[in-house]
Amino acid sequence: MNSSSSKLFILSTSFLLSISSITSNSVLDNFLQCLPIHSNTSNPITNSIYVPNNSSFQYLYELRANNLRIISSSTISKPLAILTARHASHVQAAVICAKIHSIQLRIRSGGHDYEGLSYRSDIPFVILDLFNLRSIKINITSETAWVQAGATTGELYYKIAEKSKVHGFPSGVCTTLGIGGHFTGGGYGNMIPKYGLSIDNVIDACLIDVNGTIHNRKSMGEDVFWAIRGGGGTSFGVILSWKIKLVHVPRKVTVFKVQRTLDQGATDIAYSWQHIAPKLPKYLFIRLQPEPITIGNGNKTIRVSFIGQFLGRSRKLMNLMNEEFPELRLQQNDCIEMSWVESTLFWAGFTNGTSIDVLLNRVVENKVFFKTKSDYYKNVIPKQGLVMLWEMLMDIGNIFVQLNPHGGRMDEISETETAVHQRGGYLFKVQYTVYWSESDGGIGAAKRYVEMSRRLYGAMAQYASSDPREAFLNYRDLDIGCNESNDTDFGVAEVYGTKYFNNNFMRLARVKAMVDPENFFKNEQSIPPLPSSH
Ligand SMILES: Cc1cc2nc3c(=O)[nH]c(=O)nc-3n(C[C@H](O)[C@H](O)[C@H](O)COP(=O)(O)OP(=O)(O)OC[C@H]3O[C@@H](n4cnc5c(N)ncnc54)[C@H](O)[C@@H]3O)c2cc1C
Ligand SMILES: *[C@@H]1O[C@H](CO)[C@@H](O)[C@H](O)[C@H]1NC(C)=O
Ligand SMILES: *[C@@H]1O[C@H](CO)[C@@H](O)[C@H](O)[C@H]1NC(C)=O
Ligand SMILES: *[C@@H]1O[C@H](CO)[C@@H](O)[C@H](O)[C@H]1NC(C)=O
Ligand SMILES: *[C@@H]1O[C@H](CO)[C@@H](O)[C@H](O)[C@H]1NC(C)=O
Ligand SMILES: *[C@@H]1O[C@H](CO)[C@@H](O)[C@H](O)[C@H]1NC(C)=O
Ligand SMILES: *[C@@H]1O[C@H](CO)[C@@H](O)[C@H](O)[C@H]1NC(C)=O
Ligand SMILES: *[C@@H]1O[C@H](CO)[C@@H](O)[C@H](O)[C@H]1NC(C)=O
Ligand SMILES: *[C@@H]1O[C@H](CO)[C@@H](O)[C@H](O)[C@H]1NC(C)=O
Ligand SMILES: *[C@@H]1O[C@H](CO)[C@@H](O)[C@H](O)[C@H]1NC(C)=O
Repeated sequence: MNSSSSKLFILSTSFLLSISSITSNSVLDNFLQCLPIHSNTSNPITNSIYVPNNSSFQYLYELRANNLRIISSSTISKPLAILTARHASHVQAAVICAKIHSIQLRIRSGGHDYEGLSYRSDIPFVILDLFNLRSIKINITSETAWVQAGATTGELYYKIAEKSKVHGFPSGVCTTLGIGGHFTGGGYGNMIPKYGLSIDNVIDACLIDVNGTIHNRKSMGEDVFWAIRGGGGTSFGVILSWKIKLVHVPRKVTVFKVQRTLDQGATDIAYSWQHIAPKLPKYLFIRLQPEPITIGNGNKTIRVSFIGQFLGRSRKLMNLMNEEFPELRLQQNDCIEMSWVESTLFWAGFTNGTSIDVLLNRVVENKVFFKTKSDYYKNVIPKQGLVMLWEMLMDIGNIFVQLNPHGGRMDEISETETAVHQRGGYLFKVQYTVYWSESDGGIGAAKRYVEMSRRLYGAMAQYASSDPREAFLNYRDLDIGCNESNDTDFGVAEVYGTKYFNNNFMRLARVKAMVDPENFFKNEQSIPPLPSSH
């Protein structure tokens, strides 16, 4: 390039830049001006619009952005605006106006997405935040409830307990998950052996489609209702609320957390656990959680926690454990009896005696930087595989791994019943979570730790499910499919789609083509519409 053309180049670049910033500002302005026209005048939408010059903008953005790795990254851009919907018509207006003005919407309920897809995008976007749509209406006579998307799992547990001591709901262990996002990925918790996933107990939903129309199960049709139960919400519309069927729980449940280090035979017990846990009676769930610890002399070891929940009293549990899992040597004084709602606190890591009022705390208090990857296992990991895993965990340091058993109710539900394919035939699913707190802008540490998580994932490939190597949508991982051959009809979407949904991917793409052929509702890992050539 000679000097005059390079000057021209610089000139034209800055000219283009200013044009594009004018354009994006006017696009935003047009979008913002469109909103009141399409929303209910008795519920003014203007009070729900936050643009970056608003003093609450940054606070609102971060409050429900739960992975510091995402919000600290200098390469990830912020939203043009945050719309905190307070009324269904605000959501309708957001969809209609975003479509008219070609603005990407990111829908956020609880903000727990592991990759932050509810609050980040590579293209200019607006966050549609549903956190204020959080009513929970429980009807004990019919044993049902309507729960809005912005309610948290903790609020749901609390409200159920307020009405009944013998009802509960099977969903996640963390008490700040947004019902909106959590259920669309399946929703998995410690009552899985008895009651399956959250979506297996969902009976209706309220959804706003690409035209801004509100639907219930009947008007959205069974295909869409099928797709949003496990296929991710993002691709099909905005879920306003779910109608759930409450489940029965006894007045007292028993929980325990037993820990064994390598010296105490952790490897053998963990090996047995893989055979036993997926076949336990439906009333009993035992999670396995290995993590590296440093012992007195500065040496490292692995401590494996066996965290259990029995829907019944401890004496019965003791008998059962002596029969089913004697190697664990559970003692009566390991067992803690409590009400079901108190058990949700135990699982969330609150200390004994904490008031159940903490369930009403709607945001995460101690956020960390983290990267999670996931696997499903159909075969047990041999002892040498466990030993390799332990060594890698001690090497990485800041990591925990969680093995959550399938079995029970999951074996009774067919893989086509909902969009969640992984039902019978799986022993357990695993999440590997590397976390850190170095705040060098997060960048250097993030790079290092993310690389470590990939190395571990690579090493476990020989034992995990394969062809496809499956993953759990609620443990979102943008690495999936990155370095794999994507020479398929759908490109990379077919790679991650098959990992998350296996044979259900094609049906999801067909449903997508029916209700959102222009692909308005999308993110980095959404379902693409099936090309018309199929
Ligand atoms: C600490 C922690 C513990 C967890 N424990 C569990 C667990 O025990 N079991 C389990 O299954 N999962 C668990 N998860 C994963 C969790 O279920 C998912 O991250 C889930 O997507 C969170 O939902 P959200 O509404 O909080 O997140 P968000 O980030 O708000 O949303 C997640 C995704 O769903 C989309 N979405 C959100 N709301 C809507 C809506 N109303 N309509 C349409 N699309 C929507 C978002 O755009 C995004 O793509 C855990 C996550 C964390 C961080
Ligand atoms: C507007 O909201 C009010 C109160 O929430 C409601 O009664 C009314 O039906 C709504 N109007 C429209 C057009 O949705
Ligand atoms: C910020 O936005 C809110 C909601 O739209 C509005 O009520 C408030 O006045 C705004 N504050 C500033 C400083 O602009
Ligand atoms: C903030 O931005 C909004 C929308 O772009 C604009 O109307 C308003 O005047 C701005 N306020 C300030 C104080 O800059
Ligand atoms: C609760 O459910 C019962 C049984 O279906 C029904 O008769 C009653 O009207 C419901 N109550 C409310 C407040 O909706
Ligand atoms: C601790 O490490 C030292 C040095 O590697 C080793 O000699 C010692 O046996 C270890 N102790 C235990 C309890 O493993
Ligand atoms: C938990 O707390 C209750 C009372 O708050 C007490 O009775 C019980 O012994 C405690 N259990 C444990 C294991 O500390
Ligand atoms: C993809 O490959 C590159 C180059 O080998 C590597 O650095 C990166 O970690 C890989 N990404 C994933 C997700 O495995
Ligand atoms: C598909 O794979 C090719 C070659 O590995 C890569 O260059 C391209 O970026 C991938 N496409 C997507 C969408 O990931
Ligand atoms: C949205 O509206 C268009 C145009 O009226 C229509 O063709 C399409 O079927 C509608 N989409 C849905 C999901 O109802």
